[in-house]
Amino acid sequence: MSAKDHLIIFDTTLRDGEQSPGASMTRDEKVRIGKALERLRVDVIEAGFPIASPGDFEAVKAVAEVVQESRVCALARALDKDIDCAGEALKGANAGRIHTFIATSPIHMEQKLRMTPDEVVEQAVHAVRRARRYTDDLEFSPEDAGRSEIDFLCRVLEAVIDAGAGTVNIPDTVGYNIPDQFGGLIATLRERVPNADRAVFSVHCHNDLGLAVANSLAAVRMGARQVECTINGLGERAGNAALEEVVMTVRTRQDLFDCETRLDTTQIMNCSRLVSGITGFAVQPNKAVVGANAFAHESGIHQDGVLKHRETYEIMRAQDVGWSDNRMVLGKHSGRNAFRTRLQELGVALGSEEELNAAFSRFKDLADKKHEIFDEDLLALVADATLDAANERVKLVSMRVCSETGETPRADLVLVFDGVERAGRAAGGGPVDATFKAIESIVESDTLLKLYSVNAITKGTDAQGEVTVRLEKAGRIVNGQGADTDILVASAKAYINACNRILRPIERAHPQNSKV
Ligand code: KIV
Ligand code: ZN
Repeated sequence: MSAKDHLIIFDTTLRDGEQSPGASMTRDEKVRIGKALERLRVDVIEAGFPIASPGDFEAVKAVAEVVQESRVCALARALDKDIDCAGEALKGANAGRIHTFIATSPIHMEQKLRMTPDEVVEQAVHAVRRARRYTDDLEFSPEDAGRSEIDFLCRVLEAVIDAGAGTVNIPDTVGYNIPDQFGGLIATLRERVPNADRAVFSVHCHNDLGLAVANSLAAVRMGARQVECTINGLGERAGNAALEEVVMTVRTRQDLFDCETRLDTTQIMNCSRLVSGITGFAVQPNKAVVGANAFAHESGIHQDGVLKHRETYEIMRAQDVGWSDNRMVLGKHSGRNAFRTRLQELGVALGSEEELNAAFSRFKDLADKKHEIFDEDLLALVADATLDAANERVKLVSMRVCSETGETPRADLVLVFDGVERAGRAAGGGPVDATFKAIESIVESDTLLKLYSVNAITKGTDAQGEVTVRLEKAGRIVNGQGADTDILVASAKAYINACNRILRPIERAHPQNSKV
C-alpha cells in the first residue's frame, strides 16, 4: 500500500473541452471518448451541461449509462432548473456527481450576474442543498475564483461545505494567475476556511497565459487533491490544463509530490488520438507527451546518448504513455484475427462485426499500397470506421483529380448527399482547391476555409497523410480530419468531415452565460 495521497483526476474534455470553438461532439462521439477515459482510469468524467440542449442532456445520460468504473459528473449553474436537469440526466449512473457553480469575483457578480455578494452566497447554498436531492457527491465551484476576494471566497466555501459540498473546485476561469500566487491561494483557503478538512480541494485552470498546468501543479503541491483537466489541453479559448502533462509530471517527479494518480498512462495516446480525430483539433508536433516529436531525438548527439543509455536525454518512456516504437505491426498477409487483436491491444473496440469487417477491408486496401503498417496507420484507419455514421449527411464515393504542368487542375467526384448519389466537377488554382470546389458544387455549405494542414502520420514517402480542415460559417467554426495514402483523398475526406459537422443543427446554451 502506498503512503501517498490519491490525486483525483477529473476529466472535463466532454464539457469544457467541448466549449472550444469547433469541438462540439455528438452523443455517440461522447460515449466513445467516455469509454476511452474509463479505460484510462480517470476518476471523474464531466460528461456535459445537460440544460444546454436536448442533445447535451442525451449525451450525459448516455455516458452515465455506459461508464461503470469512473464517476460521471454533470454541470449545472446554481439554478433549480439546471440542477434538476443534471439530476435527471445522471439517473442511470453507477456513480454520479453534480457540479454546480456561481461566479464570485466582483466583476462577474456586478457585471454578469448583477447580484450582491449576500445573494450569491444564498444561491450557492441553495443550489448545493437542491443537488443533494439527487446525489451525495456534490461539487461546488466559485467561478472566477482566481480574481475573487479572499475573504468572500472563504465565506462562500465555508457555507457550501456546510451545505454538503464534498469537493470545492477553485477555477482560474480566465487564466490570470501565476503558479506561486495560485498555489498560495490554495494554501490560504485550506488554512482559513474553518471546515476545509471536510472537503477535497480541486483546481480548474485555464491556459490563457500558458500556465494552466504549472498553476494546477503548484496547487497540488499546496494540498489540492483533485485536478480538472482535458485531453490534449482542449478547452475554452486557450484551453484547460492538459491531463497528460499533469499526470506525467506527477508520475515523473514523485520525488516532489506526496500524491499519485491511479491512471493507466499507457492509454494516454489512445485518448489523445481519439479526441483529436473526433474534434478535428490536430495535436501540434512539439506538444509535450502526446506530440509526434515528444520522444523523437533528432540531433546526432542526442541519438547517440539515448542509444548508449536512455536516461541521458529521456525522463519518461514513450511506451509508458502508449507510444508504440513505430515497428511494423501488421502486413499484407495478416489475418482478421491478428487485426482485431492488435486493435484490442491499442484499446480500440469496434462496436459490431460489420464495423470490424469494413475496417479490415480498408486495412487490406492499405496493405496493398503501403508495405509496412504501423499502429498509427491502424488508428487512422479505424477512425473512419468509428465515424458517427448517423450524423453523416455527406459521404465520398469516388474521386478523380487531374493535375499537369501548364494545365488547370480539375476534380471530378461522386458523393452521396442525403442518401442521393451526385456528381460534381470543378477547376481550381491547385488540385486541393479543385477538389474542395467540386465538393462545394454539390454540398453548397457556404463556408469559408480558415485552415488547411497536412501531416504525415508515419515516416516514409508511402506514409498516410492526415489532413485537417477548418471551416467557418456565420461565426461558427468546425474542424474536420481525414487520412489516406493519397493526400488528395485525405483532403476530400477532411473537407467532407467538416461539412458533416457544419450541417448538424446546434442550439445550445453556454454554461457561463447567465441566461438560458
Ligand atoms: O472555467 C470555469 O470557471 C468553469 C467552471 C464552470 C468550473 O469551467
Ligand atoms: Zn473552465
